[in-house]
Amino acid sequence: MKRVLGINGSPRRGGNSDILLQSVLSGAAEAGAETEEVHLRDYRFRGCIGCERCRKDEQCTGLMDDMQLVYPRIRRACGLVLVSPVYSYSVTALMKAFIDRLYPFYHFESQRPGPWHTRIGEQGRKSVIVAVGEQHSPEEGGMHLTVEVMRRSMDALGFGVVGEIPVFGIFERGKVREYPEILEQARDAGRHLGLQLQDG
Ligand SMILES: Cc1cc2nc3c(=O)[nH]c(=O)nc-3n(C[C@H](O)[C@H](O)[C@H](O)COP(=O)(O)O)c2cc1C
Repeated sequence: MKRVLGINGSPRRGGNSDILLQSVLSGAAEAGAETEEVHLRDYRFRGCIGCERCRKDEQCTGLMDDMQLVYPRIRRACGLVLVSPVYSYSVTALMKAFIDRLYPFYHFESQRPGPWHTRIGEQGRKSVIVAVGEQHSPEEGGMHLTVEVMRRSMDALGFGVVGEIPVFGIFERGKVREYPEILEQARDAGRHLGLQLQDG
């Protein structure tokens, strides 16, 4: 079974990110994937504290919080969908904390700075990235930075990015519903993701 996990970084319930994530996941389901959603606002977890215990333990043993529920889902997923609103030119604090907590998936040589690799790479995993913001211009609103933070994180982790959807000019909760063409674009990206994944 192709498993696709959606990670929503918006603190706002019923907001644009919720709607966009549902659209991407419905496309992935159409392509035969089993989908699951994690709304980070519903999970109690902290940002990484840099204890470096994961380098030896190969899992996060420094913080016993709700990320422990998310780690096995990431391991099981062959597709990831990251959705974040633009907050102050970047991803939300929730999404940034989530990304930092992916650190246990990396192996680092003892020499620092030095070589590193993801422990879950080269397994055909793929991802789609969605960001939504109020401003129309990518530079003015920080959309380019927001997308880049998520793109680099997914590439580094071993989930090659097969779709990026920057959504501009959307401020109010749920406003994106008024733009069926954007929701269709999101569904298409999900379908494309689902079709790229191998069964397993
Ligand atoms: C604290 C905060 C900071 C924001 N910063 C930006 C920003 O830098 N650039 C931008 O384009 N929109 C910014 N926005 C607008 C949100 O990205 C926009 O309202 C988005 O649609 C929210 O998505 P959601 O409904 O999924 O939460 C900000 C909103 C908040 C609450």
